Amino acid sequence: MAKIIVVGGTGLIGSKVVAKLSEHGHEAVAAAPSTGVDTLTGEGLADAMTGAQVVVDVSNSPSFEENAVLEFFTTSTRNLLAAEAAAGVGHHVALTIVGTNRPQNIPYFRAKTAQEKLITESGMPYSLVHATQFFEFLGSIADISVVADGTVHLPGALIQPIAAEDVATAVARTAAGRPINGDLEIAGPEQFPMDEFVRRGLAFRGDPRTVVQDPDAQYYGAHIEERTLIPLDGAEIFPTTLAEWLPANPPRS
Ligand SMILES: NC(=O)c1ccc[n+]([C@@H]2O[C@H](COP(=O)([O-])OP(=O)(O)OC[C@H]3O[C@@H](n4cnc5c(N)ncnc54)[C@H](OP(=O)(O)O)[C@@H]3O)[C@@H](O)[C@H]2O)c1
Repeated sequence: MAKIIVVGGTGLIGSKVVAKLSEHGHEAVAAAPSTGVDTLTGEGLADAMTGAQVVVDVSNSPSFEENAVLEFFTTSTRNLLAAEAAAGVGHHVALTIVGTNRPQNIPYFRAKTAQEKLITESGMPYSLVHATQFFEFLGSIADISVVADGTVHLPGALIQPIAAEDVATAVARTAAGRPINGDLEIAGPEQFPMDEFVRRGLAFRGDPRTVVQDPDAQYYGAHIEERTLIPLDGAEIFPTTLAEWLPANPPRS
């Protein structure tokens, strides 16, 4: 059984990863600003790494503004990898996004690509888990896509979302295994045009906003192609469907 540090272990995915690793007998420790570990400033990092064999990075930037998110993922990843090397950590696992490693122009994805590059070039044994969009992200996608008249405008590009619980299963399993020194793609079982995914979710929740398919609409600041967010052949498909997930997950207040 290993000592595994989960950076971002208080977050949506991180808290589930900590729980799953602990259930399997590992010593899983959540590291986040609220537990005294800040990967941006380096505060608490060296102490947190003591005796750890594996580090899982499921942290996220508090701001999604283009420069802030790039600064977050590059500075925090540099600090983390340096602290891991000093402490003799033998496996760095990071959660990233399906589509970061193919042509696209999404500012948030550029920051994740920079994070991945630092990891792959670090010399540290690693595993990169690329997940599709989380079901839990549904409300946020709607909120950022509202136009002046209150309707939600989304492209018809395909999305193949996955439940956070399934993402955490994949990340925990990867952390408990050997470094793959490569990429693993994971996704949910169904594809939807993005507007249909959000329309179904809002309707189920009784949210009265109208969702419009709009070819000019952007996704997080960029135009995307039909398959930009869709996994390649060979992705591992997890079972939870939207119809199963919705009734079990009322919106978080
Ligand atoms: N949303 C999606 O659809 C999607 C899809 C694929 C991949 N991802 C990736 O999944 C990862 C996890 O996302 P999530 O939704 O679980 O995140 P989240 O719920 O927002 O949690 C973020 C975590 O990061 C921690 N954190 C923030 N600033 C930090 C710092 N300076 N030092 C250390 N920890 C810090 C937070 O700690 P506090 O609790 O103390 O603030 C929290 O534990 C992200 O890397 C994201 O890129 C997301």
